[in-house]
Amino acid sequence: MRLTSEEKDMMGGAYGPAVERACKIVVTLGGIYGAERLVPVESVQVAGVSYRNLGEAGLSFLKDWAGDGARVRVPSTLNPAGMDMRDWRRMGIPDEFASRQQAVVEVYTSMGIQPTCTCTPYLVGNTPSYGSHVAWSESSAVSFANSVLGARTNREGGPSALAAAICGRTAEYGFHLDRNRRATHRVRVECPVRQPFEYAALGYWVGREVRNGVPYFQGLQGASSRDTLSPAERDSLKLLGAALAASGAVALYHAQGITPEARTVPGLILDDTPTITVNTLDPAIEALNAPIDILDLVVIGCPHASFEEIRNVADIVRSCQLQSALWVTTSRAVREQAEDMGWVQIIEEAGGQVVADGCVVVAPMQSTRYRTLATNSAKMAFYAQPHAGLQVRFGSLETCLEAAIRGRWSKDQEEPMP
Ligand code: F3S
Repeated sequence: MRLTSEEKDMMGGAYGPAVERACKIVVTLGGIYGAERLVPVESVQVAGVSYRNLGEAGLSFLKDWAGDGARVRVPSTLNPAGMDMRDWRRMGIPDEFASRQQAVVEVYTSMGIQPTCTCTPYLVGNTPSYGSHVAWSESSAVSFANSVLGARTNREGGPSALAAAICGRTAEYGFHLDRNRRATHRVRVECPVRQPFEYAALGYWVGREVRNGVPYFQGLQGASSRDTLSPAERDSLKLLGAALAASGAVALYHAQGITPEARTVPGLILDDTPTITVNTLDPAIEALNAPIDILDLVVIGCPHASFEEIRNVADIVRSCQLQSALWVTTSRAVREQAEDMGWVQIIEEAGGQVVADGCVVVAPMQSTRYRTLATNSAKMAFYAQPHAGLQVRFGSLETCLEAAIRGRWSKDQEEPMP
């Protein structure tokens, strides 16, 4: 691999042991994947935040690196934690877990990483420019950066993203290269896909088929002919990408007429690219629904909810009294914006909670009283059982919130809705 003189100095320890270790991780990974050089990164999204996943071993690994002087060189943001960093008791999170979780976020913060604790960093200021190289971890964020923003990142792991942040570089392989951004599958969508949860169901179904390929969607309804996506379109693509990355390992997709490379880059798809046809979402929706009626919890905000999604929740639950718990998971910054508009108060008066910083999938849910869950996110529906031990219902935002109001998922709520 060709290294610049600065990179050689980093490798040789001239910038201290933390940078040396970071650079060696990046170069080693690049060697494994055949990279010829390193490229500077514009930003980093660091995963590996929940203490439930890290444990003491992970925390002490981070402390060691920080103790060696690790500091990030580029703007870097943090993935969700296993709880709301201020209001964890209301979630039923034990104090012991909370103190270890706080220690994790503190060590990341000491390295100069912004404690955003969100999987939608692009909604809170970490919005990479088209064509820029970034090193992001967290699969839904990676998908959004590559597909909707047109930035370039591989699916980094927590340590490799942190290493890239500390040396300011990543190895140029995979999705950093034009040739790997071409479609591997054409997906003809021949059924209506309008609501956000339908985008999520489509992503779940296609992800299972294409695994780690690059799907190119044709025929998505509501294709934007404008340069800028509406918030509703953006949020639908957020759910689509999250589901593709969960049931498969899709890091990049294109949507004809919608996503930036599909709109501007010629030759992304060839005539002989294999084709998948989707003419119904019913099997996907059915596969994501367990036969449960009583709902302990409804979760909206996977990936973390946008300002507009919180407003939609507030509009539906206004003046209601919820029978199930409701968590709307989001970033601290978006929660504060929603609070300024009075939407958080409306949701909380109905009995719900707008959870900042946290994610159900990485929270210690076994320590809470919740065993069943409804969500409009196919990613959450896919992971909640194996990762959090929860039985799941999946449907539209309206259906999930109606279920929260009644406390149960009744037969006449089953998807697809008329
Ligand atoms: Fe985000 Fe957690 Fe969903 S990290 S995408 S809220 S599983």
